[in-house]
Amino acid sequence: MKLPYAEPYKIKMVESIKRSTPEQRKKWIKEAHYNLFNLSSDKVYIDLLTDSGTGAMSDKQWGALMEADESYAGSQSFLKLKETVQKITGFKYFLPTHQGRAAENVLFSVLVKEGDIVPGNSHFDTTKGHIEFRKATAIDCTIDEAFDTENMHPFKGNIDLKKLQKVFDENPVEKIPFVIITITNNSSGGQPVSMENVKAVSKICKKNKVPLLFDSARFAENAYFVKMREKGYQKKSIKEIAKKMFSFGDGMTMSSKKDGLVNMGGFIALNDEEIFKKATVFNIMYEGFITYGGMSGRDMAALAVGLDEATEFDYLESRIKQVTYLGNKLIEYNVPVQHPIGGHAIFIDANKFVPTIPRDEYRAQALAIELYIIGGIRGVEIGTVLADRDPFTRKNRYPELELVRLAIPRRTYTHNHMEYIAAVLKNIYDSRAEAKSGYRIIDEAPIMRHFTVKFEKI
Ligand code: F0G
Repeated sequence: MKLPYAEPYKIKMVESIKRSTPEQRKKWIKEAHYNLFNLSSDKVYIDLLTDSGTGAMSDKQWGALMEADESYAGSQSFLKLKETVQKITGFKYFLPTHQGRAAENVLFSVLVKEGDIVPGNSHFDTTKGHIEFRKATAIDCTIDEAFDTENMHPFKGNIDLKKLQKVFDENPVEKIPFVIITITNNSSGGQPVSMENVKAVSKICKKNKVPLLFDSARFAENAYFVKMREKGYQKKSIKEIAKKMFSFGDGMTMSSKKDGLVNMGGFIALNDEEIFKKATVFNIMYEGFITYGGMSGRDMAALAVGLDEATEFDYLESRIKQVTYLGNKLIEYNVPVQHPIGGHAIFIDANKFVPTIPRDEYRAQALAIELYIIGGIRGVEIGTVLADRDPFTRKNRYPELELVRLAIPRRTYTHNHMEYIAAVLKNIYDSRAEAKSGYRIIDEAPIMRHFTVKFEKI
């Protein structure tokens, strides 16, 4: 018999989570104006809102916390982290920040000007936010296959080279400060980018003398997929693959809350000394001195260990296989999900699940609310609410996909939790014909509205 995989760790400490009834949850979500971000976490049974900063640290990471150095300048924990980042990424210069969007803020303060154009593969919402906030434009060059949830392309995070070339053909190169590749591509389904694609994008960038940056939040998961799916990498270690991928770029921003295996943190790593020097000034203004950048010494110490653990094959295998296990259960129950199953999350295709709810009534949001009411499970809408309004016309932007993301925190939930989630979704799917109407927005912020938007039921 083929042996199933099992986690390469055992549990040393547990955290209680609270169960509740659908009646209680109906009341709570109404009080939260139907925004899942507004719920207090004790009202959630299984929290799949995000895999960001919600994972479990290892005993080695907790041990490192105790030994950390909290010096304002020249902290030993900073030096250790810098060394680890250099070893894993190969980039020369390193600046810690308090999280990923802070890294974007610091670096884009140097690089992005009004009227600029930043091509990439489905920029994450904070990335896009930091570009648009500077009155620049993010152009999505993701391959078309990514928008067909049935398509089995192994690297649906890839950049379409023709789309990218078109951006270069139609715009003066001075208007393109950099190209950014997000690994893995979160917004279009936690889908990986192939080494071959990165190499080809890098070639276009080099030809035009435009830097290539990585939004690296899930770079280790991306490396796992390269190892498993791309020819020539089966025998390479995750660390070798990650380093090779970074070698095609000029720098990176990182949200350490994902593949850093910590609850808070981020950083910038770069090869260009001039950009680094300019970024240093913004880092000091926004984040803190360059040897802590918004992180405490203990956070930096835990991150150094976390980066090392996250780039180990055994950890990644159990991580990705847990997500795949849930995905396969849902497929077995006919629930429409994004194929192939991505790295950090399951993306439910709300266009296929509840086509009966009109699009302007936020069908993916409606499905996420139902999932909460029926099962106490908190997912997140990745659809029209998240896509926000066009900054110029102020009209709703309707993305091709209406998804509900179930992000799986790292090393946190068990197989039984996966079974429970799948069963809840099956029950909702079986009664989907009853869903006819959704929600209407009654209050929203001018940018990144999804965090605070208020709805009422139609
Ligand atoms: N880039 C990507 C690809 C991300 O997924 C995120 C965060 C960020 C940048 C920003 O990092 O949160 O540390 O400031 N993603 C979280 C998520 C919030 O739920 O996917 P941050």
